[in-house]
Amino acid sequence: MIIWKFIDDKGGHDFNLPYPDDPSQTAIRKSHFQNSRLALSECLKAHGRQVEAIEDLMIRDHHCLKKDNQLLASLAHTRGAACAIVATQSDKLHGVGIDCEQQDRVIRHEILDKFSGELDDAETNLHLWCAKEAAFKASSFFWKKEKTFILKDIIIKKDTFEIPGLLAGELEHENFSGYLVTKAMVTQLFL
Ligand SMILES: CC(C)(COP(=O)(O)OP(=O)(O)OC[C@H]1O[C@@H](n2cnc3c(N)ncnc32)[C@H](O)[C@@H]1OP(=O)(O)O)[C@@H](O)C(=O)NCCC(=O)NCCS
Repeated sequence: MIIWKFIDDKGGHDFNLPYPDDPSQTAIRKSHFQNSRLALSECLKAHGRQVEAIEDLMIRDHHCLKKDNQLLASLAHTRGAACAIVATQSDKLHGVGIDCEQQDRVIRHEILDKFSGELDDAETNLHLWCAKEAAFKASSFFWKKEKTFILKDIIIKKDTFEIPGLLAGELEHENFSGYLVTKAMVTQLFL
């Protein structure tokens, strides 16, 4: 079962988590933290889990819940909104990732050149960006090479992605409340 939830600032949510000690905390960082953890909390409740403490929301290695390594999880936050995804690990699902961006965000060519490659194929530059970010989050746990993992290591082919020699997966894009939300699921490991 794959569950994802979207939370935006408009909801006026009453959800006050203790914010981790962070000398560089700002109001924006705090709202991103709150929104994304609220989205995760909603996912877990929909999955039949109780959420009683901050420990229930902790993610290990950007991959699975600290309290349950069979439950895959990923977060994203951007201006005004956040989202989360959780799913049970299986022999057909090894990792999940999520990203959300404002639909009117323009991806400038200088940025595009930094993360795209000639084999990439996506509906728009924004779809490509969200696909790369979601796929990166779903895959980073499996990257064990010395070389730093970067977005250019991922090839996007419409609704699928691949890291040659490592893994492959599927993508789903959805327009939601003025945001593009993209989910990535690692479905094959070539290990
Ligand atoms: C890891 C990365 C995808 C995070 O994206 P972001 O735009 O900073 O932020 P998002 O809101 O989309 O997601 C943030 C969440 O991603 C998750 N995350 C961070 N690093 C992660 C990783 N290595 N793997 C999986 N998830 C990760 C965290 O939960 C984080 O939220 P938190 O800090 O509140 O816990 C981004 O830093 C990235 O693209 N790295 C690759 C570097 C690269 O190739 N750069 C060239 C680019 S132009």
